[in-house]
Amino acid sequence: MGRGAYQPALDIGVTSPYAHLRQYVVSSTLSGIDDPAVEVVSGGPIELVRRLKKEDGGDIWLCGGGKLAGALLPETDEMMIKYYPVVAGAGIPVFTAEFQPQLFDLADSRTFANGTLLLTYTRK
Ligand SMILES: NC(=O)c1ccc[n+]([C@@H]2O[C@H](COP(=O)([O-])OP(=O)(O)OC[C@H]3O[C@@H](n4cnc5c(N)ncnc54)[C@H](OP(=O)(O)O)[C@@H]3O)[C@@H](O)[C@H]2O)c1
Repeated sequence: MGRGAYQPALDIGVTSPYAHLRQYVVSSTLSGIDDPAVEVVSGGPIELVRRLKKEDGGDIWLCGGGKLAGALLPETDEMMIKYYPVVAGAGIPVFTAEFQPQLFDLADSRTFANGTLLLTYTRK
């Protein structure tokens, strides 16, 4: 998680929003979290992800938000994008990054009765 994605949980006293996972929060301003399940990482997230990829274990889930997703785009192998039938008119970019198109293939799609789509893309 980027600090922006984590902050809303922290603001309501939730320190471990994904308690079933090992959790990392990328932040240069949080000094530490009083929860052994959450590690604050002040250095570069790319280095963190490259180190985690070398470890045994499951996949790495990038929660967001847009600034962290933009920084980690070069290390992103798969994207699961949800579309909701709502037009908000403004918002936070999914990826805050330089204009540099990167190609993905559609690997899976699910449609839900309420009009939500869940699309899975893998890097070409
Ligand atoms: N729809 C969804 O599935 C979803 C998922 C997640 C989040 N969100 C939403 O996204 C919003 C937050 O997104 P955001 O783009 O504003 O923030 P963000 O990417 O979550 O967090 C940005 C912060 O993370 C740290 N950070 C990120 N990249 C870094 C890097 N390369 N190096 C060092 N630190 C880095 C910095 O924290 P410091 O300032 O502390 O250094 C930076 O201010 C929230 O409103 C949240 O609700 C939505």
